[in-house]
Amino acid sequence: METLVLTWVLLLMFSFAASDTNSTSETYTLIKATNFARPNCQSKCGDLVVPYPFGIGINSGCSIGPGFDVYCNTSSDPPRASLESISYASIKQISDSTLRISNTVSTRCYFPDGNIQSAVNFSPYFNNTPYTISEVNKLTVIGCNEYAWVTSKMKPTGCLVICYEQEDDIGDDCSGNACCQSSIPEPINYYVTQFYALQESNFSNNGSQTLNPCTYAFVGDVEAFKFNGTTDLKDTSLDKKIEANVPIVLDWAIGDLSCSEAEAINGTACQSNSMCVNSKRETGGYRCKCNEGYEGNPYLSPGCQDIDECKDKLQFPCHGTCVNIPGNYTCKCKQGYSGDAKIKDGCSRKIPILQLTLGLGLGFPAILIGLWVLYFTAKKRKLVKLREKFFEKNGGVLLQDKLKTKGGVGIGSMRIFQVEELEAATENFAENRILGKGGNGIVYKGTLPDKSVVAIKKSQRLDEGQRVQFINELVILTQINHQNIVQLLGCCLETDIPLLVYEFISNDTLNRHIHNQTSGLERLSWNNRLRIAHESASALAYLHTDTRMSIIHRDVKSTNILLDDNYTTKIADFGASRLVPLGHDQVTTLVQGTLGYLDPEYFHTGQLTDKSDVYSFGVVLAELLTGKKPINIDRCLDDRNLATYFVNAMKENQLLEILEHQIVIEATDEQIKGTCDLACRCLNIASERRPSMKEVTMDLESLRKFGKHPWDCQDMKYNKMSSLMIEVEDVDLYTAPFITNSDTFGGYSSSSIGRSNRTL
Ligand SMILES: *[C@@H]1O[C@H](CO)[C@@H](O)[C@H](O)[C@H]1NC(C)=O
Repeated sequence: METLVLTWVLLLMFSFAASDTNSTSETYTLIKATNFARPNCQSKCGDLVVPYPFGIGINSGCSIGPGFDVYCNTSSDPPRASLESISYASIKQISDSTLRISNTVSTRCYFPDGNIQSAVNFSPYFNNTPYTISEVNKLTVIGCNEYAWVTSKMKPTGCLVICYEQEDDIGDDCSGNACCQSSIPEPINYYVTQFYALQESNFSNNGSQTLNPCTYAFVGDVEAFKFNGTTDLKDTSLDKKIEANVPIVLDWAIGDLSCSEAEAINGTACQSNSMCVNSKRETGGYRCKCNEGYEGNPYLSPGCQDIDECKDKLQFPCHGTCVNIPGNYTCKCKQGYSGDAKIKDGCSRKIPILQLTLGLGLGFPAILIGLWVLYFTAKKRKLVKLREKFFEKNGGVLLQDKLKTKGGVGIGSMRIFQVEELEAATENFAENRILGKGGNGIVYKGTLPDKSVVAIKKSQRLDEGQRVQFINELVILTQINHQNIVQLLGCCLETDIPLLVYEFISNDTLNRHIHNQTSGLERLSWNNRLRIAHESASALAYLHTDTRMSIIHRDVKSTNILLDDNYTTKIADFGASRLVPLGHDQVTTLVQGTLGYLDPEYFHTGQLTDKSDVYSFGVVLAELLTGKKPINIDRCLDDRNLATYFVNAMKENQLLEILEHQIVIEATDEQIKGTCDLACRCLNIASERRPSMKEVTMDLESLRKFGKHPWDCQDMKYNKMSSLMIEVEDVDLYTAPFITNSDTFGGYSSSSIGRSNRTL
């Protein structure tokens, strides 16, 4: 009896599992019945079955309308079927909802010197046809260090392929390592393929001289494509191989009426035993579909016919007595046996009544327990499934793969956290755990079971395209290893919004140390300020030049410079940062940054360079020198911006008035002159005249060496200052637009301004 319950429970579980998988895979059926085509019409072109509403012959009257005319070229061997509107592609298969046609691969090939040798940018267009590009297709990119994406009416979707040093690292899974995939989030009727090389050429990358000079990108049926690692990567005729094997899946629909509209006009849209299905595409249209258990052509009389399941033991197994009924069949165990005859050995001899009652007495509670267990397992499974989905959506698989293949610095110490761990660490993301809110997300303070304190950042919502980018950036961020940059400890990808775990920096932000002295924080001495400036500069210089890819922070400001217990500087918040491939010195992006710190040139042109960080750093220097906030409405209009105010004061030789009093006392002449001059150069309106972060670091380092001479007399200082002459370049400073709403500039709150219509 117990085994019976167990089988039953297992059976139920199996059916749960089965329904799970069904919902994810594409379900389509080939039209099987004999009435494929209209009477007196050909039903096949070579091996291809052409069911009505498609018809062979242009204007032959065999199809439902012009978009469905199939041209069958019998002169080619084997005969080639194509649509009039899509003549370049041959039809591979027609199902009751889809059409599979031959593909064209977009390619970009490079000469060894990095110049483009040849390019194919396939951009199909199915406007005004019955066809849309199905969501079951995915964009697949194969190559090295290139970003490829497709744009359409939807948001761009794309992915990045990276090749690491060792060829053996390239696995067979298409997850970013030489091969990447990105979904097409909705049905579209055209797309444009584009490439963006991350490095000069495939050849110059990490000495991988033997790799393919081409990058390949295509939108196609993922089921038909299997990535073969290095073999595929090296194959210079890979495009031909893909074109021969991987079709592009089109959804088709009739006309532009919905089912109810078509029924209202024509009486019926579909023949008997079938149902009408509205198309998902924007322009409308419908399809017909045989009911469950029926087959045939739902568009042609007499419609769909009942399937005699008992005649097809292979598809409809029955190990007992089979009886066909309309739309279904029954299959019973032979007399004297019970169980499920649809499975092999599913029938067993009936249990006598006495044993049955006894069995039920014992078995019933067991069944209840079984059901109860089942209910909770199913519920848990659903949650686990959802998490797995998020994990996958957020690029977890890609990341895990990279963690596996790339055992480099930093990345080895990176952890993938479980959502439960982080929920427990933050008491379910409680309000009182919030450390700060910014343009890029909310930061919570968390305590891990080992009592270590971490900062957990809940990022902004990401769209599909950004997710892949997010992971690739994450991988690079994990490789950052600098004592003045907040260390990323790990991440959690099981939630809809990815979570990042950073080391916790205990001693507040530089912003508060400068501007919030009322809150009991000790005033930062000049030496500390100069050291913090030097440490921040060296961290930014490291990001700009020392990492595998140049990283532009994009949001340098005193709130993003944290201090630990020893007042060591830690640069934080890479939420907005941008990777710039080496060899490219600028990228066009959505303008992003914080008012008061934003590089005016970048704001005007949208061209992001590492010099934008230099400008923002200049504002931080001015803050350190003057103790004033980057934007202050109490100053007169032209001087509200600290950058303008500072440079103007220097021009008019009135620095003494704006520098923080205590600094004038503490610092040496050389230090004041040198630091002010440096800030002024960083704040130059023309980015190419600003120093690089490396130069800034070196300047600050030598300024730190100009320590205060012990014999300096404080009284002399004031006299000296009046004679302190600083050369100022005559520049027309840009004043950032002033926004009067409730933007705050203190503490953790930040205001980021963005301008749309400037995307990559
Ligand atoms: C039919 O196929 C043959 C052989 O491939 C080709 O030469 C011919 O141009 C095709 N005809 C049309 C109309 O496409």
